[in-house]
Amino acid sequence: MTLRDLPKVELHLHLEGAAPPAFIRGLAREKNIDLSGIFDEDGGYVFRNFEHFLSVYEAACEPLKSAEDFYRLTTAVLEETASHGVIYAETFISPDFCGGGDVAAWRDYLDAMAQAAKDCETSHGITLKGIVTCIRHEGPEQAKRAAKCAVETMGDFLTGYGMAGAEMMHRPADFAYSFDMAREAGLSLTCHAGEWGGPDMVTETLDALKVARIGHGINAHRDADLVKRLADEGIVLEVCPGSNVVLKAVDGWASHPIAKLRDAGVPVTISTDDPPFFHTTMTAEYDALSKTFGWGADDFLDLNKVAINAAFCDEATRADILKRLEQA
Ligand code: ADE
Ligand code: ZN
Repeated sequence: MTLRDLPKVELHLHLEGAAPPAFIRGLAREKNIDLSGIFDEDGGYVFRNFEHFLSVYEAACEPLKSAEDFYRLTTAVLEETASHGVIYAETFISPDFCGGGDVAAWRDYLDAMAQAAKDCETSHGITLKGIVTCIRHEGPEQAKRAAKCAVETMGDFLTGYGMAGAEMMHRPADFAYSFDMAREAGLSLTCHAGEWGGPDMVTETLDALKVARIGHGINAHRDADLVKRLADEGIVLEVCPGSNVVLKAVDGWASHPIAKLRDAGVPVTISTDDPPFFHTTMTAEYDALSKTFGWGADDFLDLNKVAINAAFCDEATRADILKRLEQA
């Protein structure tokens, strides 16, 4: 079995960030929106650094205006994701890009995404769950609106709440109200931390927001006590190595801390984050990990089991995906 065919679980995938550039260009053309500044001559997204990446990301979202656009986006992303062997994925979705935080508008967008997920489960054998994600640099008040949208519409498809965006803005505790609201409603929680911030940011996030998973979390490796805490408490890291390499959150593949964290007993998982932005796929991530750390099929089965055990899904889905992983 090739690395591409290996069944995979992906927990950290931004829906808009996974939009194929050709899909966004086509939508922009339909709507007469000029996005020429965000593409290079090969048609890929182009950005200078993380801050610029965030602004290119927001520009790429501009043509995504209707629920129908999000049906088409979800379908395009799932077709591409499934073609790399992913059988279960979770995706970050943001009311900010879907009606600006208005619950009634959000419901229409969410219904479209959930319908696309259902259709692709039938056509491509991939299961998708959604995690409402507030955008840190939009601030705590906007995060509350996102949490309200999540709480009002949670269910079979929408199972989690989280936060992405510029990590150095605000403190985790500023978002405690939103995360408390989501937790009390029964949503599962994750938060980007330790991608740009140090171990203190991961610790603060765990203490203030009481999340089960951390997005990235790679800088935790700089603090032995925190590494022990992550291992002891079973806090799962959604690691996106190719994203870290391209955005220069690490110096390169050889010095990426994922292997060190895994060896220390931290539950790590593998994802692509925003695959076309970073010229990556799940196959490319596995290939690079295999070449850098010598990981093989047994390691990937183990990593995928960690991921499905940490997935924000119902127990029947978990058992079904686990069976498919083990049978491969
Ligand atoms: N939004 C999309 N990708 C992100 C990343 N890598 N970090 C923070 N926010 C993001
Ligand atoms: Zn991310």
